[in-house]
Amino acid sequence: MRARSTRKKRSAPPQGLSARLLSHVTLDARTGEDIVAGVDSFSFGLGKFSAGAVERARDLRAGLPLRSFASPSRTIDKEIHLLVRRLAARGLVEYRLGRSHRKDEVVIEPQLPDYWPQMPKLRDTDALVLSRFAYMRRRADEMVLESPRSGALFKIYHQKIAAMLATLAVPRRIKQLRQQTGFPGVELLALLVDCHILFKVDAAKDKGLRPTEGDGNLVLWDFHDFLFHTRSTEGRHANPVGGLYSYVDVIPSLPAVRPSWPGERIDLRQLSAAAAEAMSPAVKLLRERHSTRDFDDRHPITLSELARFLDATARVRSTLRAPLDPDGDGGGPMLEYTVRPYPSGGASYELELYLAVNKCEGLPRGFYHYDAGEHALVPISVRAPEFEALLKAAEFATGAAAAPQILITIAARFGRVSWKYGSIAYSLILKDSGVLTQTLYLIATDMGLGGCAIGPANIDLFAKMTGMDFHVEGPVGQFALGRGATSAALR
Ligand SMILES: Cc1cc2nc3c(=O)[nH]c(=O)nc-3n(C[C@H](O)[C@H](O)[C@H](O)COP(=O)(O)O)c2cc1C
Repeated sequence: MRARSTRKKRSAPPQGLSARLLSHVTLDARTGEDIVAGVDSFSFGLGKFSAGAVERARDLRAGLPLRSFASPSRTIDKEIHLLVRRLAARGLVEYRLGRSHRKDEVVIEPQLPDYWPQMPKLRDTDALVLSRFAYMRRRADEMVLESPRSGALFKIYHQKIAAMLATLAVPRRIKQLRQQTGFPGVELLALLVDCHILFKVDAAKDKGLRPTEGDGNLVLWDFHDFLFHTRSTEGRHANPVGGLYSYVDVIPSLPAVRPSWPGERIDLRQLSAAAAEAMSPAVKLLRERHSTRDFDDRHPITLSELARFLDATARVRSTLRAPLDPDGDGGGPMLEYTVRPYPSGGASYELELYLAVNKCEGLPRGFYHYDAGEHALVPISVRAPEFEALLKAAEFATGAAAAPQILITIAARFGRVSWKYGSIAYSLILKDSGVLTQTLYLIATDMGLGGCAIGPANIDLFAKMTGMDFHVEGPVGQFALGRGATSAALR
C-alpha cells in the first residue's frame, strides 16, 4: 500500500487577507451567463453564478477580503468561495495583506494551482525561525521572499517587514517580535509558517535547526540543489518552461559549431576515414541513433520487447558489499552496491524507472515501477486524470500527433547520492540521468524500437501520483518509447 502525503486541513480564514484578480486578468460577469475570465487572447469559463454573486465578484478587482465569504452557510458566500477557488486554480488571483486599502504591504503570489492561504494557530510563546531554504531577492522592481518548499511567493513592499524577517535568522518568540517596529501582525507569520518559509522551534526539544526543519530526506538537501531541482522542472513554480526564445530580439544565438581557436590545425579527417563495412557495431549504433516522436500504434511495442529492453538497459546484474572506508582497517561499516549496464557516479544507482504504459501488447494500460533488482514490473494505482495528464504532457513536449506507447519517467532517490556527495549531489544525478538516457536511446535503436528524451518533467504531478514527497524521490528525466512509425517495416 502506498503512503499518501497528508496535508492538515485548517479552516480559519486569514483576517486581513484579500483575494484580488491579477491586473492583466479581465472578468466578464453577466447575470444568468457564465462568468468568463480573460487573459491576453485566452478565456476561461468559470460557471454560472447568481446576480448577487456576479455583483460581488466585481470587488475582486480591488480585492475581496477572504473573511467576507468565509461563512459556509450563506449560499452567496459559498458561490464566491467557489469562484475564487476556480480563479486560483488557473493562477488568476493573488492575495494582498495591507492595513490600508491603498497600500499593499505584502502580496502573496501562488506558485501551485492548489495553493490556498492557510493560517496555522500560533501562540505568543512560540519561537519562529527562517527556513534555510528561504531567500529574498529582487525581481524586476520588487523584493520577493520565496522557498523551493513553498506553494507561494511573498512580495514584500515594506522595508520594515523585510528587516523584521531578517531578524529571524535566529529563533525568536512571537511576543518578542511584537515589540519590533514594523511588526506586520501574526497573520503574516502564520501564512509564512504554512508555506514552510518559517518554522516553529521548540527550544526544549531542538537538536539543531537542520534536523528540526524536516525529515531525514530533507536534511540531506543543500539549498542550491533543492532550488535548482524545483526551479528547473515543472510543477512547483509558476514561471514559463520550455523553448521560450526570451532573448531572440536582444542577443543573437551562439553558433551551432564553436569557431576554431587560432593556430595551426592537426587534420584528423584522413586518419579517421574508414569504409562503412569496417565500422564497429558500436559506431554504427551511434550513427543510427535518432529521436523518434511518432509511433506505429497499429503495431505497438510488446511486453516481451519491453522485458528485453529493460533487461539490457537497467536491470541489476549483481550486488556487492564494500567498506565505507576502503583504506581503513576493514572494521568500519559496509555499504551495499549494485552492478548495472550503465555507469553511475559513485556507483550510487539512485535512478528508478516508472513506466506510464499507454499501448503495449500483452501489458495492461497503467502506471508501473520497474523493480530493477527483481526484473519485474509492479503496478501502482493512480488516478486516471493524473495518468492522462502525464501522457498528454509528453505528447505536447514532443509535438507528436499522439502520446507515446510507453513514457518512462526517470526518478531519483535523491538521498542515495546526497548522503555521500553533499553539494555536488544534484549535478551528479542529472549527469547520471543523461548517461541512462543515452543507454535507453542506444538499446532502443539496437532493438529496432524508437525513443525520444523529454526535457521538462512535472515533479508535483509525480508526487501526487505516487504519494511520495517531492524531496524524497522525483523525476529528473523522461523518455518516450515505442515502435517508431517509420520502423514498422523492421518488425
Ligand atoms: C536532455 C534532452 C532533452 C530533450 N527534450 C526533448 C523534448 O522535450 N522534446 C523533444 O521533442 N525532443 C527532446 N529531445 C530530443 C532532442 O531534440 C534531439 O536529441 C535533438 O534534436 C537531436 O536529434 P536526434 O536525437 O534525432 O539526433 C531531448 C534530448 C535530450 C538529450
